[in-house]
Amino acid sequence: MPRVALATYDPQGAPNRDRDLPTLAQALKDAGAEAHVLPWDAPDTDWAAFDLVVIRSTWDYTGRTEEFLAWAERCATSTRLVNPLDVVRWNTDKRYLGDLAAAGVPVVPTRYLDPGDTPDAGDLPGDHEFVVKPVHGAGARYAARYTPGERDRAAAHIARMHAEGLPAMVQPYLTRIDTTGERALQFYGGRLVHASRKRAVLSPGTPYDADKVPHPDLEPWTPTPAERAVAERALAAVPGGAEPLYARVDLVDGDDGTPQVMELELVEPNLFLWLHPQSVAPVAQAILTAALAPADRPDA
Ligand SMILES: Nc1ncnc2c1ncn2[C@@H]1O[C@H](COP(=O)(O)OP(=O)(O)O)[C@@H](O)[C@H]1O
Ligand SMILES: [Mg+2]
Repeated sequence: MPRVALATYDPQGAPNRDRDLPTLAQALKDAGAEAHVLPWDAPDTDWAAFDLVVIRSTWDYTGRTEEFLAWAERCATSTRLVNPLDVVRWNTDKRYLGDLAAAGVPVVPTRYLDPGDTPDAGDLPGDHEFVVKPVHGAGARYAARYTPGERDRAAAHIARMHAEGLPAMVQPYLTRIDTTGERALQFYGGRLVHASRKRAVLSPGTPYDADKVPHPDLEPWTPTPAERAVAERALAAVPGGAEPLYARVDLVDGDDGTPQVMELELVEPNLFLWLHPQSVAPVAQAILTAALAPADRPDA
C-alpha cells in the first residue's frame, strides 16, 4: 500500500483552512493508499518513510521561504516530492512572471523592488491605480491597491516589506477584475480538471496588513478557448524537464479584454474540490499513480 504524505501548515489548534484536505485524504484511502496529513514544519517527521510527499497547503511559508525550501530539499533528497524541487524553487518567487513574459506568455506587467531599492517616480504610477504585493506571496497577504494620490502609503508599505527582508512587486491594478473577476484553471496529472472564478479581492483603502477574503464568491467556471490557450502556454514555459503533477493558472483580463497570467501556482494551490466533486477521484488517482511510479532517485 503506497504511503502518501499531504503537507499542510500548522493550524495551531484552529480548524485547518484547507477545505480540500479531508476529502483528498479520504479519496486516497478509498483508492488504496495510506494518506497522512502533516504540517511541513512538524519536528521529527520522517518524510523518508513516505513514497510520495505532496505539497498541499503549506500556506504559512511565505515569510519563511528559505526554511521552506530547505525542507523541500530534504524531502526531495530522501523521497519523492511533488511538485518537484526545481519547480517549487522557481515558483516560490513571483519573478517567474518575467520568465513567462520572456517566453511570450501574456502576464500582468510587473516591476520588482528588492530590499535596498527605493521606489522612484517610474515605479509608483502617477496616472492609474496600482497594486503592491510580495514576491513570495499567498492568500493576498501583504497585498494592497493604491491610487496615485496614495503613493506615500504605498512607499511605506514597500518599506515595511523591505524591513522584513521581503522583496516587493508593483503592478497596474487590472480594473477589469472588478467586472470579469479572476479565473483559476486547475490542472492535475497533466490535464485540465476544472476551473473556478472569483471576484476581486482588493478593495480601495484596505490596509495591506488587514485580513482579506482570499476567494470571494468562488464559483465553477467553464474556461474560454482563450483562457485555455494562455494557461497551456504558461505551463509549456515552465523551465526544466520535470512536468508538474499539478498546476493552477490564475488569469485576469487586461485592459484589452484578453487574459493575462496573474499567478502560476505550482507550489500550494487551493484545489477548490468542494466546488468540483467530479474532480476528487481523478486527482486522487493522479497522486496514486505518482506514488506508484518507479523510484527515480539515485539511492533507491
Ligand atoms: N495587478 C492586480 N490587479 C488587480 N487585482 C490584483 C492585482 N494583483 C493582485 N490582485 C488581487 O489580489 C489578490 C492576491 O494577489 P495574487 O497575485 O493572486 O497573490 P497571492 O499569491 O497572494 O494569491 C488577487 O487574487 C487579486 O484579487
Ligand atoms: Mg492568488
